[in-house]
Amino acid sequence: MNDALALPVGTTLDRFIMRKQEDFPFASGELSQLLRDIALAAKIVSREISRADQDTVGTIGTQNVQGEDQQKLDVIANIRFIRALRNGGEVCTIVSEEDEDLIHTGNANAKYIVAMDPLDGSSNIDVNIPVGTIFGIYRRLTDGGQDGTLEDCLQKGTQQVAAGYILYGASTMLVYTTGCGVNGFTYEPSLGEFFLSHPDIKIPDKGRQYSCNEANVSNFPLGIQNYLAFCREQKYSSRYIGSLVADFHRNLLKGGIYFYPASDKNKTGKLRLLYECNPLAFIAEQAGGQATDGIERILDKTPVALHERCPLVIGSSEMIEKVRKYMTL
Ligand code: AHG
Ligand code: MN
Ligand code: MN
Repeated sequence: MNDALALPVGTTLDRFIMRKQEDFPFASGELSQLLRDIALAAKIVSREISRADQDTVGTIGTQNVQGEDQQKLDVIANIRFIRALRNGGEVCTIVSEEDEDLIHTGNANAKYIVAMDPLDGSSNIDVNIPVGTIFGIYRRLTDGGQDGTLEDCLQKGTQQVAAGYILYGASTMLVYTTGCGVNGFTYEPSLGEFFLSHPDIKIPDKGRQYSCNEANVSNFPLGIQNYLAFCREQKYSSRYIGSLVADFHRNLLKGGIYFYPASDKNKTGKLRLLYECNPLAFIAEQAGGQATDGIERILDKTPVALHERCPLVIGSSEMIEKVRKYMTL
Protein backbone atom coordinates (compact mmCIF):
# COMPACT_ATOMS: atom_id res chain seq x y z
CA MET A 1 0.00 0.00 0.00
CA ASN A 2 1.43 3.35 -0.88
CA ASP A 3 -0.29 6.04 1.12
CA ALA A 4 1.97 8.77 -0.30
CA LEU A 5 0.11 8.54 -3.59
CA ALA A 6 -2.92 10.04 -1.88
CA LEU A 7 -1.00 12.79 -0.13
CA PRO A 8 0.46 15.74 -1.97
CA VAL A 9 3.89 17.26 -1.64
CA GLY A 10 3.65 19.86 1.12
CA THR A 11 1.64 17.65 3.49
CA THR A 12 2.96 18.10 7.01
CA LEU A 13 4.68 15.15 8.66
CA ASP A 14 2.08 15.12 11.46
CA ARG A 15 -0.78 14.89 9.00
CA PHE A 16 1.05 12.27 6.95
CA ILE A 17 1.59 10.11 10.03
CA MET A 18 -2.04 10.54 11.06
CA ARG A 19 -3.35 9.59 7.61
CA LYS A 20 -1.04 6.61 7.48
CA GLN A 21 -2.40 5.38 10.77
CA GLU A 22 -5.95 5.57 9.41
CA ASP A 23 -4.97 2.93 6.82
CA PHE A 24 -4.59 0.47 9.68
CA PRO A 25 -7.91 0.35 11.55
CA PHE A 26 -6.48 -1.51 14.52
CA ALA A 27 -3.43 0.68 14.94
CA SER A 28 -3.31 2.13 18.43
CA GLY A 29 -1.36 5.27 17.52
CA GLU A 30 1.70 4.37 19.59
CA LEU A 31 4.05 4.05 16.60
CA SER A 32 2.68 7.32 15.24
CA GLN A 33 3.48 9.02 18.52
CA LEU A 34 6.96 7.50 18.51
CA LEU A 35 7.64 8.87 15.02
CA ARG A 36 6.48 12.29 16.17
CA ASP A 37 8.84 12.06 19.17
CA ILE A 38 11.73 11.33 16.82
CA ALA A 39 10.75 14.31 14.65
CA LEU A 40 10.73 16.53 17.74
CA ALA A 41 14.25 15.45 18.72
CA ALA A 42 15.35 15.95 15.12
CA LYS A 43 14.17 19.57 15.21
CA ILE A 44 16.07 20.22 18.43
CA VAL A 45 19.27 18.58 17.16
CA SER A 46 18.94 20.46 13.88
CA ARG A 47 18.87 23.70 15.85
CA GLU A 48 21.92 22.69 17.90
CA ILE A 49 23.89 21.75 14.78
CA SER A 50 23.13 24.99 13.00
CA ARG A 51 24.27 27.01 16.05
CA ALA A 52 27.79 25.60 15.57
CA ASP A 53 29.16 27.56 18.55
CA GLN A 54 31.58 26.63 21.30
CA ASP A 55 28.86 24.80 23.23
CA THR A 56 28.21 22.43 20.35
CA VAL A 57 31.43 22.05 18.34
CA GLY A 58 34.57 20.19 19.42
CA THR A 59 35.46 17.14 21.46
CA ILE A 60 34.27 16.64 25.00
CA GLY A 61 37.32 14.70 26.28
CA THR A 62 35.54 11.36 26.67
CA GLN A 63 35.32 8.24 24.50
CA ASN A 64 32.29 6.19 23.56
CA VAL A 65 31.95 2.43 23.84
CA GLN A 66 33.82 1.99 20.55
CA GLY A 67 36.83 3.91 21.93
CA GLU A 68 36.13 6.87 19.65
CA ASP A 69 36.51 10.46 20.87
CA GLN A 70 33.08 11.83 21.64
CA GLN A 71 32.18 15.14 20.09
CA LYS A 72 29.99 17.55 22.04
CA LEU A 73 27.26 17.01 19.49
CA ASP A 74 27.45 13.20 19.84
CA VAL A 75 26.55 13.70 23.48
CA ILE A 76 23.98 16.44 22.88
CA ALA A 77 22.18 14.44 20.19
CA ASN A 78 22.20 11.34 22.37
CA ILE A 79 20.67 13.25 25.29
CA ARG A 80 18.04 14.93 23.10
CA PHE A 81 16.86 11.72 21.45
CA ILE A 82 16.81 9.77 24.71
CA ARG A 83 14.85 12.55 26.39
CA ALA A 84 12.29 12.77 23.57
CA LEU A 85 11.81 8.99 23.57
CA ARG A 86 11.55 8.83 27.35
CA ASN A 87 9.06 11.69 27.54
CA GLY A 88 7.06 10.38 24.58
CA GLY A 89 6.33 7.21 26.52
CA GLU A 90 6.26 4.69 23.64
CA VAL A 91 9.75 3.21 24.02
CA CYS A 92 10.82 0.90 26.83
CA THR A 93 14.48 0.46 25.89
CA ILE A 94 17.03 2.17 23.65
CA VAL A 95 20.27 0.95 22.10
CA SER A 96 22.56 3.89 21.35
CA GLU A 97 25.99 4.05 19.76
CA GLU A 98 27.01 6.33 22.62
CA ASP A 99 26.08 3.96 25.47
CA GLU A 100 27.61 0.58 26.13
CA ASP A 101 24.54 -0.84 27.83
CA LEU A 102 20.83 -0.74 27.19
CA ILE A 103 19.09 2.48 28.18
CA HIS A 104 15.82 1.85 29.97
CA THR A 105 13.40 4.73 29.75
CA GLY A 106 11.25 3.74 32.71
CA ASN A 107 8.29 3.22 30.35
CA ALA A 108 8.10 -0.46 31.25
CA ASN A 109 4.75 -0.98 29.54
CA ALA A 110 5.83 0.59 26.25
CA LYS A 111 5.89 -1.71 23.23
CA TYR A 112 8.84 -0.44 21.29
CA ILE A 113 12.63 -0.69 21.17
CA VAL A 114 14.73 1.91 19.35
CA ALA A 115 18.28 1.35 18.09
CA MET A 116 19.98 4.60 17.14
CA ASP A 117 23.11 6.33 15.99
CA PRO A 118 22.25 9.76 17.39
CA LEU A 119 24.94 11.60 15.43
CA ASP A 120 26.41 9.92 12.38
CA GLY A 121 29.46 11.38 10.67
CA SER A 122 30.68 13.12 13.78
CA SER A 123 34.15 13.73 12.32
CA ASN A 124 32.43 16.18 9.96
CA ILE A 125 30.74 18.31 12.63
CA ASP A 126 33.46 20.89 13.06
CA VAL A 127 33.82 21.53 9.33
CA ASN A 128 30.17 22.30 8.59
CA ILE A 129 29.57 19.17 6.52
CA PRO A 130 26.30 17.19 6.66
CA VAL A 131 25.79 14.75 9.50
CA GLY A 132 22.84 12.56 10.39
CA THR A 133 20.84 10.45 12.82
CA ILE A 134 19.88 6.85 12.08
CA PHE A 135 17.14 4.86 13.84
CA GLY A 136 15.49 1.45 13.70
CA ILE A 137 12.31 0.58 15.58
CA TYR A 138 11.33 -2.90 16.80
CA ARG A 139 8.37 -4.27 18.69
CA ARG A 140 9.52 -5.82 21.95
CA LEU A 141 9.31 -9.62 22.26
CA THR A 142 8.94 -9.78 26.02
CA ASP A 143 5.79 -8.88 27.91
CA GLY A 144 5.34 -5.35 29.20
CA GLY A 145 5.65 -4.41 32.84
CA GLN A 146 9.43 -4.75 32.84
CA ASP A 147 12.39 -3.21 31.07
CA GLY A 148 13.26 -4.42 27.58
CA THR A 149 15.86 -7.18 27.45
CA LEU A 150 18.89 -7.99 25.32
CA GLU A 151 16.72 -10.48 23.44
CA ASP A 152 14.28 -7.66 22.59
CA CYS A 153 17.14 -5.67 21.11
CA LEU A 154 18.99 -8.38 19.20
CA GLN A 155 16.29 -8.94 16.60
CA LYS A 156 16.99 -9.38 12.90
CA GLY A 157 16.61 -6.34 10.68
CA THR A 158 13.60 -7.99 9.03
CA GLN A 159 11.75 -7.42 12.31
CA GLN A 160 11.97 -3.63 12.09
CA VAL A 161 8.54 -2.01 12.08
CA ALA A 162 9.98 1.31 10.99
CA ALA A 163 13.36 2.84 10.28
CA GLY A 164 14.70 6.14 9.11
CA TYR A 165 17.34 8.78 9.15
CA ILE A 166 17.63 12.50 9.57
CA LEU A 167 20.08 14.33 7.36
CA TYR A 168 21.27 17.65 8.76
CA GLY A 169 22.49 19.16 5.51
CA ALA A 170 21.88 22.37 3.63
CA SER A 171 18.34 21.63 4.76
CA THR A 172 17.28 19.09 7.35
CA MET A 173 15.42 16.05 6.02
CA LEU A 174 13.65 13.15 7.68
CA VAL A 175 13.39 10.01 5.53
CA TYR A 176 11.56 6.99 6.90
CA THR A 177 9.73 3.80 6.12
CA THR A 178 7.18 1.73 7.96
CA GLY A 179 7.39 -0.99 5.34
CA CYS A 180 5.05 0.70 2.83
CA GLY A 181 7.61 2.56 0.74
CA VAL A 182 9.94 5.39 1.65
CA ASN A 183 9.01 9.03 2.09
CA GLY A 184 11.15 12.10 2.64
CA PHE A 185 10.25 15.28 4.51
CA THR A 186 12.09 18.57 4.48
CA TYR A 187 12.20 20.76 7.57
CA GLU A 188 11.08 24.36 7.34
CA PRO A 189 12.67 25.98 10.42
CA SER A 190 10.66 29.19 10.27
CA LEU A 191 7.46 27.14 10.63
CA GLY A 192 8.89 24.38 12.81
CA GLU A 193 7.41 21.71 10.53
CA PHE A 194 8.58 18.86 8.33
CA PHE A 195 6.77 18.84 4.96
CA LEU A 196 6.50 15.96 2.51
CA SER A 197 9.01 16.78 -0.23
CA HIS A 198 10.06 13.39 -1.59
CA PRO A 199 7.04 11.06 -1.80
CA ASP A 200 7.53 7.37 -2.53
CA ILE A 201 11.29 7.46 -3.07
CA LYS A 202 12.63 4.82 -5.47
CA ILE A 203 16.35 4.29 -5.88
CA PRO A 204 17.38 4.00 -9.55
CA ASP A 205 18.26 0.38 -10.42
CA LYS A 206 21.71 1.47 -11.47
CA GLY A 207 23.88 4.51 -11.08
CA ARG A 208 27.29 5.84 -11.97
CA GLN A 209 28.53 6.82 -8.51
CA TYR A 210 30.37 4.77 -5.93
CA SER A 211 31.13 5.75 -2.34
CA CYS A 212 33.88 4.18 -0.27
CA ASN A 213 37.04 5.16 1.55
CA GLU A 214 39.42 4.38 -1.29
CA ALA A 215 42.45 4.85 0.96
CA ASN A 216 41.62 1.39 2.33
CA VAL A 217 41.49 -0.32 -1.07
CA SER A 218 44.57 -2.49 -0.62
CA ASN A 219 42.92 -4.00 2.46
CA PHE A 220 39.54 -4.66 0.85
CA PRO A 221 38.53 -8.25 0.01
CA LEU A 222 39.63 -9.18 -3.51
CA GLY A 223 36.08 -9.22 -4.88
CA ILE A 224 35.55 -5.63 -3.74
CA GLN A 225 38.94 -4.58 -5.13
CA ASN A 226 37.93 -6.04 -8.49
CA TYR A 227 34.55 -4.34 -8.38
CA LEU A 228 36.28 -1.04 -7.66
CA ALA A 229 38.53 -1.59 -10.68
CA PHE A 230 35.37 -2.20 -12.72
CA CYS A 231 33.87 1.10 -11.47
CA ARG A 232 37.02 2.94 -12.52
CA GLU A 233 37.05 1.25 -15.94
CA GLN A 234 33.45 2.34 -16.39
CA LYS A 235 34.50 5.89 -15.49
CA TYR A 236 31.98 6.05 -12.66
CA SER A 237 32.31 9.02 -10.31
CA SER A 238 33.74 8.61 -6.84
CA ARG A 239 31.64 10.43 -4.23
CA TYR A 240 32.50 9.98 -0.54
CA ILE A 241 31.87 12.52 2.15
CA GLY A 242 32.47 10.28 5.19
CA SER A 243 29.00 10.72 6.68
CA LEU A 244 27.14 7.51 5.96
CA VAL A 245 23.75 9.22 6.02
CA ALA A 246 24.83 11.85 3.49
CA ASP A 247 26.51 9.33 1.20
CA PHE A 248 23.54 6.98 1.41
CA HIS A 249 21.03 9.77 0.80
CA ARG A 250 22.80 10.94 -2.34
CA ASN A 251 22.90 7.42 -3.74
CA LEU A 252 19.26 6.84 -2.79
CA LEU A 253 18.12 9.80 -4.86
CA LYS A 254 20.57 9.61 -7.75
CA GLY A 255 21.50 5.93 -7.93
CA GLY A 256 24.81 4.58 -6.73
CA ILE A 257 26.52 2.25 -4.33
CA TYR A 258 28.11 2.70 -0.90
CA PHE A 259 30.45 0.13 0.55
CA TYR A 260 32.39 -0.17 3.77
CA PRO A 261 33.88 -3.64 3.55
CA ALA A 262 35.96 -5.57 6.04
CA SER A 263 39.62 -4.58 5.96
CA ASP A 264 42.80 -5.35 7.88
CA LYS A 265 42.04 -2.34 10.08
CA ASN A 266 38.37 -3.17 10.61
CA LYS A 267 38.26 -6.94 10.31
CA THR A 268 34.48 -7.17 10.58
CA GLY A 269 33.83 -3.85 8.88
CA LYS A 270 33.35 -0.56 10.66
CA LEU A 271 29.63 0.16 10.60
CA ARG A 272 27.30 -1.08 13.28
CA LEU A 273 24.64 -3.65 12.40
CA LEU A 274 21.89 -2.55 14.78
CA TYR A 275 21.82 1.19 14.29
CA GLU A 276 23.59 1.89 11.01
CA CYS A 277 23.29 -1.08 8.64
CA ASN A 278 19.83 -2.45 9.51
CA PRO A 279 17.84 0.81 9.33
CA LEU A 280 19.47 1.86 6.05
CA ALA A 281 19.06 -1.66 4.64
CA PHE A 282 15.32 -1.51 5.39
CA ILE A 283 15.06 1.84 3.62
CA ALA A 284 17.16 0.68 0.66
CA GLU A 285 14.98 -2.39 0.14
CA GLN A 286 11.76 -0.42 0.53
CA ALA A 287 13.04 1.94 -2.15
CA GLY A 288 13.83 -0.98 -4.50
CA GLY A 289 17.54 -1.26 -3.67
CA GLN A 290 19.55 -3.88 -1.82
CA ALA A 291 21.91 -4.20 1.12
CA THR A 292 24.34 -7.03 1.77
CA ASP A 293 27.47 -7.73 3.79
CA GLY A 294 28.91 -9.13 0.55
CA ILE A 295 27.50 -12.58 1.11
CA GLU A 296 24.34 -12.34 3.20
CA ARG A 297 21.40 -9.97 3.06
CA ILE A 298 21.89 -7.45 5.89
CA LEU A 299 18.31 -7.78 7.14
CA ASP A 300 18.70 -11.56 7.56
CA LYS A 301 21.71 -11.31 9.85
CA THR A 302 21.15 -12.44 13.43
CA PRO A 303 22.76 -9.90 15.78
CA VAL A 304 24.78 -11.32 18.64
CA ALA A 305 25.94 -8.10 20.32
CA LEU A 306 24.57 -4.60 20.69
CA HIS A 307 27.50 -2.85 19.05
CA GLU A 308 28.60 -5.48 16.56
CA ARG A 309 30.03 -4.29 13.27
CA CYS A 310 29.51 -5.73 9.85
CA PRO A 311 30.61 -5.04 6.28
CA LEU A 312 28.04 -3.04 4.31
CA VAL A 313 27.38 -2.88 0.56
CA ILE A 314 24.21 -0.89 -0.11
CA GLY A 315 22.49 0.94 -2.92
CA SER A 316 21.17 0.43 -6.44
CA SER A 317 20.01 -3.10 -7.10
CA GLU A 318 21.96 -3.85 -10.28
CA MET A 319 25.14 -2.50 -8.75
CA ILE A 320 24.77 -4.74 -5.70
CA GLU A 321 24.16 -7.73 -7.96
CA LYS A 322 27.40 -6.93 -9.72
CA VAL A 323 29.32 -6.81 -6.42
CA ARG A 324 27.79 -10.12 -5.44
CA LYS A 325 29.14 -11.68 -8.66
CA TYR A 326 32.61 -10.28 -8.02
CA MET A 327 32.50 -11.63 -4.47
CA THR A 328 31.83 -15.17 -5.67
CA LEU A 329 34.31 -15.25 -8.59
P1 AHG B 1 29.93 7.78 13.49
O1 AHG B 1 30.24 9.23 13.33
O2 AHG B 1 28.51 7.55 13.94
O3 AHG B 1 30.94 7.04 14.33
O4 AHG B 1 29.95 7.09 12.04
C1 AHG B 1 31.05 7.30 11.20
C2 AHG B 1 30.98 6.31 10.06
C3 AHG B 1 30.11 6.72 8.90
O5 AHG B 1 29.31 7.81 9.07
C4 AHG B 1 31.09 6.99 7.79
O6 AHG B 1 30.58 6.56 6.56
C5 AHG B 1 32.30 6.23 8.19
O7 AHG B 1 32.29 6.14 9.58
C6 AHG B 1 33.54 6.90 7.73
O8 AHG B 1 34.62 6.11 8.06
P2 AHG B 1 36.09 6.41 7.45
O9 AHG B 1 36.54 7.69 8.04
O10 AHG B 1 36.88 5.22 7.89
O11 AHG B 1 35.93 6.45 5.95
MN1 MN C 1 27.57 6.46 12.40
MN1 MN D 1 27.51 8.30 15.67
